[in-house]
Amino acid sequence: MRRFATSALKDFGMGKKAIEEKIIEECQHLFEVITKKEGKPFDTDKAVNYAVSNIICSIVYGKRYQYDDKEFTTRVERALTHTQLLGSPLIQVQEELSRVIGSRQIRVEDRKNLPYTDAVIHETQRMADIVPMLNFCPTEDVTLQGFLIQKGTPVYSMLPSVHQDESEWESPSTFKPSRFLDKNGTFVKRDAFMVFSAGPRSCIGEGLARMEIFLFFSSLLQRFRFTPPPGVTEDELDLDPVLGLILSPTPHQLCAHPLHPT
Ligand code: HEM
Repeated sequence: MRRFATSALKDFGMGKKAIEEKIIEECQHLFEVITKKEGKPFDTDKAVNYAVSNIICSIVYGKRYQYDDKEFTTRVERALTHTQLLGSPLIQVQEELSRVIGSRQIRVEDRKNLPYTDAVIHETQRMADIVPMLNFCPTEDVTLQGFLIQKGTPVYSMLPSVHQDESEWESPSTFKPSRFLDKNGTFVKRDAFMVFSAGPRSCIGEGLARMEIFLFFSSLLQRFRFTPPPGVTEDELDLDPVLGLILSPTPHQLCAHPLHPT
């Protein structure tokens, strides 16, 4: 492929000299755009990306495009988002799914062969902490760290104090699925992961909830790529939780693009 690409580039008439001329010519357009900003702040990567894309365009299509050509700028931006997305956890989940499962039905027993997907689910649950506050009343007097809690006292515990604990999670506010993977990429359980609470009053729906989350999440990502609506960047997408007893995301819209058009 490498040899083919190199010779194809040459066939397109792109010797070193010709390329140099194209780049120098493109520089003029870049200067023009930058000069127009009159020293005011501007988004540098856009102009530079258009310039760099134009070099490839002139090699492949034999022409360059104006920086205000809508079709050109949309195409460049789409290509860029694509590259940025490549390293993102969801794309890595999709790679794992397509490598391990392909297009067949995903089943619960596949989870053990999908460590990265499992890690992303755990990390999402850790950070989302959708049931942040636990409540119960002890049935007898207890002493906890020197404090007496009398029988019947309502006790509220906060799970974020566990899931954001810096002594358990390195930079807890960063989304890092690798916390749930060892150096061989095998999934590892963490004691400080307790989104379903712990002990005799822990969630009785855990098994059902875990199965649903795994099957819904993995089979959706097996089929679709989700993006913000056109004109909205990922950073602009507001997923802050709506405050309540249970945290749910602010209502939002996404676009689902089929991965394998049928
Ligand atoms: C992602 C989904 C879920 C999460 C994160 C979750 C989390 C929790 C947590 C943290 C508790 C302890 C609350 C406390 O101590 O005050 C709890 C209790 C409970 N959950 Fe869930 N839950 C989930 C899904 C479900 C489902 C699907 C069901 C029903 C099928 C369910 C039924 C219950 C029940 C009945 C309790 C009370 C248990 C008791 O008081 O002894 N949960 N859940």
